[in-house]
Amino acid sequence: MDKKKMFKIIDLHLEEEAGVPSNRELMWEDLGEWQMDSLKKMGMDSKHKLLDIGCGPLRFGTYAISYLDEGNYFGVEVWEPYLKLGRRILEEFEISKNYTMKIDRGFDYESFGEKFDFAIAQSVVTHMSVRQIDELLDVLKKVMKPDGILLFTFINNRFPYSVYYEMEEPMITPCKLDNAFFQALEKKYQVEYRKYPEGLERHPTGQAVATIKF
Ligand SMILES: C[S@@+](CC[C@H](N)C(=O)[O-])C[C@H]1O[C@@H](n2cnc3c(N)ncnc32)[C@H](O)[C@@H]1O
Repeated sequence: MDKKKMFKIIDLHLEEEAGVPSNRELMWEDLGEWQMDSLKKMGMDSKHKLLDIGCGPLRFGTYAISYLDEGNYFGVEVWEPYLKLGRRILEEFEISKNYTMKIDRGFDYESFGEKFDFAIAQSVVTHMSVRQIDELLDVLKKVMKPDGILLFTFINNRFPYSVYYEMEEPMITPCKLDNAFFQALEKKYQVEYRKYPEGLERHPTGQAVATIKF
């Protein structure tokens, strides 16, 4: 991305009091292209409906909304300032297609009234408690189409720690996200868990990558 655009995105964060930009902005293209490439390799095409869990200020949205057919992108976020910041970022990228984004702290994905072909949680399970990860699968089981796929990234930390996202939203960094943890969920929800699915490029920041097929 050219420097002028990068500075504009940083300015928009400050104007919307949405916090200090992070590696999400500095690695805008690396992460965005990795997500798009990975979803396409798993079979996503423009007709599919995508749920972007923890969509942030629509960084991946700038890629996905442009690619998908009108209205097929749905984002959920807990951090309210990203709603308006996301809108402004899309304006900056001159993207005017319809999309849906909502603030959701309670996994109420059924209220979209949609069934999704794909879901993505890029660096989001990374910050969920183990109870939230369980709740996430519980609701995805209801809103994903049969054979729908969740692509997610995570870190199997040795120790847990907690911080507050911009001093407001709890941001947990759990531990023990090991094979046994995901295999227990696989059994509970009758889904297929796969770590490091074949053919995907390494994650740009080195997080573990996995899929769940519903
Ligand atoms: C590290 S950022 C990644 C953002 C985005 N996926 C991207 O790649 O640009 C993690 C995001 O997840 C959001 N988040 C954390 N817990 C969430 C939850 N339970 N539901 C939805 N979003 C959540 C945070 O507010 C933050 O925007």
